[in-house]
Amino acid sequence: TLTQSTTNTNTEPKTMSATVTSLDSTDGPLFPASLISPEVITELPTDYTIRPLRRSDYSRGYLDVLRVLTTVGEISEEQWDKRFDWIASRNDEYYMLVVCDGDDRVVGTGSLIVERKFIHSLGMVGHIEDIAVEKGQQGKKLGLRIIQALDFVAEQVGCYKTILDCSEANEGFYVKCGFKRAGLEMAHYY
Ligand code: ACO
Repeated sequence: TLTQSTTNTNTEPKTMSATVTSLDSTDGPLFPASLISPEVITELPTDYTIRPLRRSDYSRGYLDVLRVLTTVGEISEEQWDKRFDWIASRNDEYYMLVVCDGDDRVVGTGSLIVERKFIHSLGMVGHIEDIAVEKGQQGKKLGLRIIQALDFVAEQVGCYKTILDCSEANEGFYVKCGFKRAGLEMAHYY
């Protein structure tokens, strides 16, 4: 059962591909579209949209965009739906958004995961994860808009800070987005 509002104030795509015409009540936005920064929407290139992830984004190339970031594997639509439902049942914790081009293809994505703490008076920390912009679409400030949109969500839902891990090669990008180096990432792989 999805608990999020299905009100979508973001611009609806003008054209829909044949594979995604059967939209139904299960295809609402992952989280309320009112959490998308109005300022970021106006700063996108003409005909581009930014909005919460939808189940039907499987057919709009969402996973291919993630492939610029790392290996994704072969994920069937059934597997996608199952994971989407799991995430959607936690949509006050998982905020995943997409940027679509004028042809309604997903060309960028990013996620904010909100962690609830005991410290700092039950503080909440945002974790930015899986930022990806399709190769041919890089350099158009879409990455910057995705980060600004996730920052807006984090502030709106009450996070006191947002943190992320990245490679040295991407440090300059995040500095341009307003982040600064803080601490050191460590990992234990299983
Ligand atoms: N190093 C230094 N500066 C950079 C870099 C970089 N690697 N990438 C972009 N910039 C600069 C741009 O030149 C621009 O500067 P300007 O304002 O002076 O013109 C500014 O940062 C904003 O750049 P965008 O155009 O918004 O960047 P883009 O849309 O290309 O997205 C991104 C950047 C997301 C890193 C993209 O290149 C990408 O998808 N890369 C592959 C996947 C990846 O590495 N993702 C990040 C993983 S880390 C994480 O997810 C937490």
